[in-house]
Amino acid sequence: MTAILPHGGTLINRLAEGAERERLLEKAAGLRRIPVDEWTISDIHCIAIGAFSPLTGFLNEDDYRSVVDRMRLQNGTVWSLPVTLSVDPKTASELKPGDQVALTGAADGIVYAILDVESIYEADQKDEAIKVFKTDDIAHPGVKKLFDRSPIYVGGPITVLHRADPGQFAEHYFDPAETRRIFAEKGWKTVVGFQTRNPVHRAHEYIQKCAMEIVDGLFLNPLVGQTKSDDISADVRMKSYRVLLDNYYPKDRVFLGVFPAAMRYAGPREAIFHALVRKNYGCTHFIVGRDHAGVGDYYGTYEAQHIFSNFTPQEIGITPLFFEHTFYCQTCGNMASSKTCPHDKSDHLHLSGTKVREMLRNGICPPPQFTRPEVAEILIAGVREDEERAKEQERTEEARA
Ligand code: ADX
Repeated sequence: MTAILPHGGTLINRLAEGAERERLLEKAAGLRRIPVDEWTISDIHCIAIGAFSPLTGFLNEDDYRSVVDRMRLQNGTVWSLPVTLSVDPKTASELKPGDQVALTGAADGIVYAILDVESIYEADQKDEAIKVFKTDDIAHPGVKKLFDRSPIYVGGPITVLHRADPGQFAEHYFDPAETRRIFAEKGWKTVVGFQTRNPVHRAHEYIQKCAMEIVDGLFLNPLVGQTKSDDISADVRMKSYRVLLDNYYPKDRVFLGVFPAAMRYAGPREAIFHALVRKNYGCTHFIVGRDHAGVGDYYGTYEAQHIFSNFTPQEIGITPLFFEHTFYCQTCGNMASSKTCPHDKSDHLHLSGTKVREMLRNGICPPPQFTRPEVAEILIAGVREDEERAKEQERTEEARA
């Protein structure tokens, strides 16, 4: 059997190598430099390795408008989130289609990519916010991020000269071409992808294991790009995933690799995006539970599932596996959902994200029916480290001001 096709049919590779890379590095030295932030560097990386196939660069105006208005690229291919390069108005006014520019890290000065400018356009960010995030409330972290950027976007294909630094996750960094090879070597014909920006609590574990009952392997694919500041940091989460996998998962049925993208918190639209990206990594199935990629009360509990009905299964390609809200039921004595448990709500163990964070901050382990004790211990130590790091950063910023 052949592996699942990447989205759009071809796995994109925009990484320059060898002599070609040397030539382009020399060329880049003479190009206008456009500084880009960490978020954009993660987009560049995801485009380069084909995680965002079929994108070969930042969206041009026609594709941008089409994605915002109808969740499709101009050619009809499903694509739900705009991946755009925002440039300050003055720099943008000096660019024209046909130019080449060097995209350099604002913090490190590294030339990450060369962009072939094809279009320069002004976005209506309020319209983008309402269509993509379903709100223009700046309390929404994705909307805030959007409104903090210049509304002038520059589109065109990129050629990547430097990969983003994998930092401490190097051993869990795999390109889609590699995960596809690894899944094939393992003999997995069906693979379920799991997106997460949180520690794996018992509810996550339950839905993963339900899925594992019907597929050959689980690709645990935590997002490690930028997240909002009160989410648990990726390095703490990675420690917690490792201890969980070591103790509670069959080694030959799970593969842990990071997803180096930033979190948009776009709920339903991000669920489509997350599924397509996991197809590129070689997954055949993708888990969408309750309020996938949501934040606050901006989206209905199952909106991220319902959105799939706008598309045919053929155009999505990967099979979504939908799960109801799951919880531990004291009377059943196991994990369940409203589909499997007849008991009253008062029998169900429910803890909000805020409550769990408060417990961890105070050194209290959530009940084992909610979080495995081995995981809770790591989170308690990690949350303290995260807080100390945040305070240290605040102090440095104050001293600088
Ligand atoms: S997300 O922003 O990455 O979606 P999170 O890491 O919490 O957040 O969720 C990962 C996946 O697990 C998502 O598909 C989400 O819908 C699902 N999920 C999280 N908690 C539950 C739960 N209690 N019941 C069912 N699905 C859940």
